[in-house]
Amino acid sequence: MTSEDADVYPPSEDTYLLRDAAVEEARPDDFALEVGTGSGVVAEALNETAERVVATDINKAAVRAARSKGVESVRTDLVAALDASFDLVVFNPPYLPSTDETPDDDMSLALGGGETGRETAERFLDAVPRVLAPDGRVLLVASSVSGVDEFEERTDYTVERVASERYFFEELVVLRLRLRSGS
Ligand SMILES: C[S@@+](CC[C@H](N)C(=O)[O-])C[C@H]1O[C@@H](n2cnc3c(N)ncnc32)[C@H](O)[C@@H]1O
Repeated sequence: MTSEDADVYPPSEDTYLLRDAAVEEARPDDFALEVGTGSGVVAEALNETAERVVATDINKAAVRAARSKGVESVRTDLVAALDASFDLVVFNPPYLPSTDETPDDDMSLALGGGETGRETAERFLDAVPRVLAPDGRVLLVASSVSGVDEFEERTDYTVERVASERYFFEELVVLRLRLRSGS
């Protein structure tokens, strides 16, 4: 492990849950995007299945980690720097509740999703339509710690649960979202 690895979210249960769901979801002709790639493990697996994969992260050490795995990576907030049309977008967001006192180091940014724990994910869902192809699919990890039902209540997406895993203190769920027509 390099000193840089310590600043990157290590592959964990949520990583592997998303990786397996993403590989299952991806089609050979997909142009795919992983937002918040961290170590790059999910994007690396998608690279084997989809036609082309791009990844983003706000953490420069994560961008370097993903590049070292052969993943085309961009440092940006969510999808801000991208101007493309993706068939599949996947995101394992920071989903733990955080407070104003939470430090803003890279690992806290990897974990903390604002006061509700859903703020980064909600901001992502507001932003992603700009780079989503017609009929594009989104896979999003959600946790019972910060709430899953709230995503299912959004009126701009149809939402299905495609994978879930129960751990001793939480349930992790992978949601598949598609924009409703007219959204
Ligand atoms: C829970 S970690 C997941 C990392 C990796 N995808 C995985 O599954 O192991 C969340 C990742 O999102 C990144 N992140 C947090 N806020 C972000 C933002 N606004 N834009 C882009 N990436 C962000 C973090 O740096 C971190 O790498």
